[in-house]
Amino acid sequence: MRKEMKEKFVELFGAEGEIRTYFAPGRVNLIGEHTDYNGGHVFPCALTIGTYGLARKRKDQCLRFYSMNFAHLGVIESSLADLIPSPEADWTNYPKGVIWAFDKYGYSIPSGMDFLVYGDIPNGSGLSSSASLEVLTGLILKDLYGIDELTLKDLAIIGQYSENQFNGMNCGIMDQFASAMGKKDSAIFLDTSTLEFEYAPVKLPDARIIITNSKVKHSLVESAYNDRRQECETALKELQEVVRVQTLGDLSEEEFERYKDVIHSSVCQKRAKHAVYENQRTIKAYQALKAGELEEFGRLMNASHRSLKDDYEVSCPEIDLLTELAWKIPGVLGSRITGGGFGGCTVSIVKNDAVEAFIDQVGRAYREQTGHEAEFYVVDIGDGAQLLD
Ligand code: GLA
Repeated sequence: MRKEMKEKFVELFGAEGEIRTYFAPGRVNLIGEHTDYNGGHVFPCALTIGTYGLARKRKDQCLRFYSMNFAHLGVIESSLADLIPSPEADWTNYPKGVIWAFDKYGYSIPSGMDFLVYGDIPNGSGLSSSASLEVLTGLILKDLYGIDELTLKDLAIIGQYSENQFNGMNCGIMDQFASAMGKKDSAIFLDTSTLEFEYAPVKLPDARIIITNSKVKHSLVESAYNDRRQECETALKELQEVVRVQTLGDLSEEEFERYKDVIHSSVCQKRAKHAVYENQRTIKAYQALKAGELEEFGRLMNASHRSLKDDYEVSCPEIDLLTELAWKIPGVLGSRITGGGFGGCTVSIVKNDAVEAFIDQVGRAYREQTGHEAEFYVVDIGDGAQLLD
């Protein structure tokens, strides 16, 4: 594909000058869902699929974008003087948002660029194609314009800022962080209140990570996401009247049970319960993985799913069906929804000798009961964003 990308770049933008190639991965979260904007822990890993970009600096103020995934949109032109989100800008709102965010952070980009992308993350799957595009853009800007002091961690923070402020999605830091900081064969145990993290080697001697794409994406995902955030903030404010905490992630399960009745609305109480318990589950899952206790890790994943379904209410019938089908198969250690919710994917840990049965049986029953064709990706954990050549 990289050869085709280069040919297309030259065809559209010409061959002169230095053209560089970059990559930023998508992510899958093993556990720790909807905890990243509640000051809790997350446990994602970078995938080997993601977004590739070819870029070259220009001398004028012009920005020229082309995506091989949206070839029908052709070259989308813009300029450094026109960094405002617009529906016509389509997918280029993401890279434009990052250029805008660089400026807000004091790194004004002096000249335009030609930029071609190709991504192999399935569209709408919830595996963070937009975060990978943001981190990719950040890396390109850092490299092309020689902004050496910015670290990969900074690129994650700026990427999140651009998504919040330019694209109006109030996401946490997890996706951009995983894309920027991923490490082959390791998950990232990240404390979102301090951004301190540790790499945890994912040693699965006789099991694989399987992502199952439900192929459904329900509408209102963004507004429901922003609502959940709001509900957690309301719960936190009420809790802060009786206990000194900065975030829901500061509470243990016992503390939550002791103080929960100060949260007036039962809905907000359920949301906060998920945030507190999920954070504690994530810490336990990290310890279980380190100790090689995969069965325990799987049990925590299943508990995470039930909490996301019943207390956080971000699952949907199709995803619940996928997890229930998975749980019935011997050799499945754990299975849960992954990512923001309302469709997208599940993540499962499956023993090697059960992989075939898993794909076959879950796929067939899902097709029979929903009419949808699930897709299965037996994935490897890859490195974070990088300059390729
Ligand atoms: C989306 C957001 C993340 C995180 C997850 C839920 O992927 O972008 O910041 O909140 O949902 O865990």
